[in-house]
Formats: sequence, C-alpha cells, structure tokens
Amino acid sequence: MTEARIQQVIGRRVWDSRGRPTVEAEIRLDNGASGRAIAPAGASTGTNEAVELRDGGAALGGFGVGRAVANVNGEIAAALHSMPIADQEAIDRRLIELDGTANKARLGANALIAVSMAALQAAAAARGQPVWRVLSEVDAATLPMPMVQMFGGGAHAGRRVDIQDFLIVPVGAGSFDEALETAARVYRAAGEIMAARGRLRGVADEGGWWPEFASNAEALDTLVEAIERAQFAVGQQVGIAIDVAASQFRDGGRYRLSADGIELETPALIELLVGWCLRYPIVSVEDPVAEDDDDGMAAFTAAVGERVQVIGDDYLVTSAERITTAAFRGACNAVLLKPNQAGTITETKAALDTARAAGWHTVVSARSGETEDVTIVHLAVGWNAGQLKVGSFARSERMAKWNEGLRIEAALGPAATFSGWRRR
Ligand code: PGA
Ligand code: ZN
Repeated sequence: MTEARIQQVIGRRVWDSRGRPTVEAEIRLDNGASGRAIAPAGASTGTNEAVELRDGGAALGGFGVGRAVANVNGEIAAALHSMPIADQEAIDRRLIELDGTANKARLGANALIAVSMAALQAAAAARGQPVWRVLSEVDAATLPMPMVQMFGGGAHAGRRVDIQDFLIVPVGAGSFDEALETAARVYRAAGEIMAARGRLRGVADEGGWWPEFASNAEALDTLVEAIERAQFAVGQQVGIAIDVAASQFRDGGRYRLSADGIELETPALIELLVGWCLRYPIVSVEDPVAEDDDDGMAAFTAAVGERVQVIGDDYLVTSAERITTAAFRGACNAVLLKPNQAGTITETKAALDTARAAGWHTVVSARSGETEDVTIVHLAVGWNAGQLKVGSFARSERMAKWNEGLRIEAALGPAATFSGWRRR
C-alpha cells in the first residue's frame, strides 16, 4: 500500500467538446506520481444535480470557470495538502465538508469532480496500476455493454425532434470489441440511409446523426432500417434504447412533442411510450416522464419494467438517497451514473451500491459536454457497472472512451469478461 501524499493540487481552464470552458485538476504527490482529470458538463441537466460554478456575465456566454479554477488552486489545494492519496473517501469527505452546501454550489461541482477524479488517477499512478484495476479489488472487472447513440435530439440537436437520444444496444455481442464493431456498422448504415434521402446534416452534440425527421417515430423506424441494413437481427442482435429526457419538453402540466405536433398529459405520454416499446425492439427507456413525476415513473415502470430497463437520469441525479426512495416506490429499475451529478467519486460509488442493493442495473454515463478524459470507462469496468453510455460513434471525446475500453479489454486478455445484456 502506498503512503504517497498530496503535495500540490493545480486547477486550470481547459475546453470541452462544445467549445466551452471547463475545469481540469492535476494532483501531484510527494513520490513524484501525479493524476489529472477534467470535469464534463451536461446540457439537459437535472434540477437536483450538484451545481457547477460558472462565472456568469457576458463573457463566454456566462460559462467561464475562473472562480471554479481559483477554488481548486486556493481553498481546495490548501485543504487537501499532505492527505494520503490512497484514502479516496477521506479526500472526498474533505471536499464535501469544505464546500459545505447540499448541492456543491459554493466551490462548484465542476471543481469538486475534477479534483475527486484526479485524486483517483493519482492514486492509481502511485501504485503503477490503471484506475480500473485499483477499483476492481472490491468488484470483479467486467467490460460493460455499450449503449451507443445513433441520432441525437432534444437539447443536443436544437430540439429538431423531442426525444433526446436514439441509441442501440448490441445485445447479441459476445465481447466489448464485437459490440463496438456492431455499433460502427449500424452507425454507418444509419448515415447511408440519411444520405440517400438527402437528409444528412452532420451530427448533434454527442456525435449522433442530426435528426432530420418528420416525427419522433420516424427516427425509430429509421433506426430499425439501419439495423437491418447493417445485417443484424433486429431485437436479437441489436436492441434500441431511448433517452426521452421528458423534463426538456414539458410545458406546464403537459408534454409538448413538437415534432409530432401533439401535446399530451402524463397518461397519454406513457401510453405513447408503452406503444413504442411494443412496436419497436426497445430494451431500455430513460427518463420517460419529467424528473419530479414520481407517480408517472412508477406507472411506466409497472407497465414495462418486466421486459424493459427503465433508467432514471434527471430523475435520480446519481443520488443514493433518491435511488432509495425510487426503489421503494417502484419507480425505475436502473440508474444512470454521472459522477458530476453527484460531485465526488465516493458519492457516485454510493449511488451504484445503493442501486445494486435494490436489484437494479447500473449504467455509467458521460455528459453531452465531454473531453478526452476517460476516467468513467475505468469506473464502469472497475466497478463492474454492466453498461456504459458515452454518446455516439463519432467525435474523439466519445471515441477516446470506447477506445479506452478496448485497451482495458486487451490488457485483461483471456481473463476479460463481458457483461452482455443485463447479465450479472
Ligand atoms: P446531458 O445529457 O449530459 O446534456 O445531461 C445526457 C443525458 O441526458 O443522458
Ligand atoms: Zn439522460
């Protein structure tokens, strides 16, 4: 066990995949090792997630991170000095106490998560091991099932269609490598179909094809066509997942599906989604109703939860407490884990443990604003999370993560196990 201690914590401004500023933290240890990590950023954020600290004002659209970076270099650096790097929980606890707010608003969740992840990276570096291996001492290392975006939508595509993510899950794949090849083939086929129809308009925030569709259902139809065109058995080899991100199109008490020209009350939205689950090979649905609609979440889960994974993202915001309540209500049967929604690695792990104890499945996820940082891939493998969602099969902030998974799979060699679809 290393006795290495924190010597220096450095914050700096770097830029994310939307060209917005974000926080990088670097932690240097007294034994010469160091670790580095970058905070991601959401666009369709949940109301209850930890709050990032932005400078506001006119410059950079208000997205400046000057204050968050200063907090890393000032208060946080002072508070963490000489702490043992091996004790992630103690480091995270100090960060939480130092911030002192319930939602990390004072120092900024962007400052905190960058430092927390950098600490994890530094601890691994001190031991000369990759992060996934350090984490997998408790849980078995398993390559996650990828959930890969094919079409963007919602807040990630100028609200061209209402549903935010149209994704595939290569349910028939036997390895992580095979799952990615499946994703590549379907992604390419989807692009060919769009091009043949004169509808290719580039990509959305997470690299999925721009959704040039007349309705939300047309995106689903096109996805089925793409799976067939790529010569996979629809449903058996490749399933569909959607992230409805319903809070984003709720207007007053109703849901306004602009692409379909309809406004629905909650029961009608649930009926529409349940209908899609019957008509299409949908294996997973995220945030089917708005983030504060406990009854809607429970009703949807009761309707499809036996067959379909129901994920809470904005609804659960990677909070162990909210997961406990949701499990009690029977709302959701899976959780999306985004470390920056919680603010620290330790709280993210607590959310995963709580979900697992409830018998739920777990999906480690990137944000729509990302960078070359690949820490979350190590979390997914080391914690044996089972599933990984990092966006599409284009743009290097996405590919960096898929490729890191391939490196880990290769490092494990014959010992590499693949989670498959919702197997434990
Ligand atoms: P976000 O979107 O990072 O913009 O919140 C990702 C998601 O909703 O899953
Ligand atoms: Zn989501």
